[in-house]
Amino acid sequence: MEPSTLEKATVGEIVTADYRTAQVFTAHDIDFCCGGNIPLATICAEKGLDIDQIIQELQAVQQKSGERSPNYGAWSLSFLADYIVNTHHVYLKENDDQIVAYAQKTAAVHGKNHQELIEIAALFAKVAADMAIHLKEEEEVFFPAVKRAEAARTAGLTPDTTDQQIIRTSLTNLYQEHEEIGDAVHTIRHLAKNFAIPEDACNTFRVTYQKLMGFEEDLHKHVHLENNILFPKAAHL
Ligand SMILES: [Fe+2]
Ligand SMILES: [Fe+2]
Repeated sequence: MEPSTLEKATVGEIVTADYRTAQVFTAHDIDFCCGGNIPLATICAEKGLDIDQIIQELQAVQQKSGERSPNYGAWSLSFLADYIVNTHHVYLKENDDQIVAYAQKTAAVHGKNHQELIEIAALFAKVAADMAIHLKEEEEVFFPAVKRAEAARTAGLTPDTTDQQIIRTSLTNLYQEHEEIGDAVHTIRHLAKNFAIPEDACNTFRVTYQKLMGFEEDLHKHVHLENNILFPKAAHL
């Protein structure tokens, strides 16, 4: 993207065009998933960041050779929904319980000297429980309605009014839940002081922080694919 295009684009649009740019936003603590609707110029002004510098960093990433991220925006919604389930939902189902257990174990061992671990363990347990309900709604209610509505549109038909209603109602809930889960994960990072490992940390402590960072990274991409690509298109079915 040219500097003039980047300046006017929203953060979500920039990440949609090339997911590799997400690393620049993460490095500057710019939210590209739940806060993806904000133009780059606005967020830079809000955060007191030098926009020319950010544009340079974005372009450096965009111009790197090597593997580009897939063009998720070009996929059908049905394919994107399946991709999200098979990568991000599977990741969460395979890892959430283990991370809860690690966080609780670390809190039990180190909670006396590191009070924040007790808060982190409690907060993450809530995130994992909320996430399980959220995934169920997407997989059993929202995505099937999106798939039926998209199939209808492809066949030149108007989607069922029930499906349109399901999509509208689900979207309100799902956006809200992304916001809540995103806020909780942001709080965990803050409590963990950006996941800096203290000197007295044992191996379990280290692994817990690594896993929490992995969770956060996966969540950002997952929510980006839904909030910036799938949800806005589903709203127009
Ligand atoms: Fe999801
Ligand atoms: Fe979601």
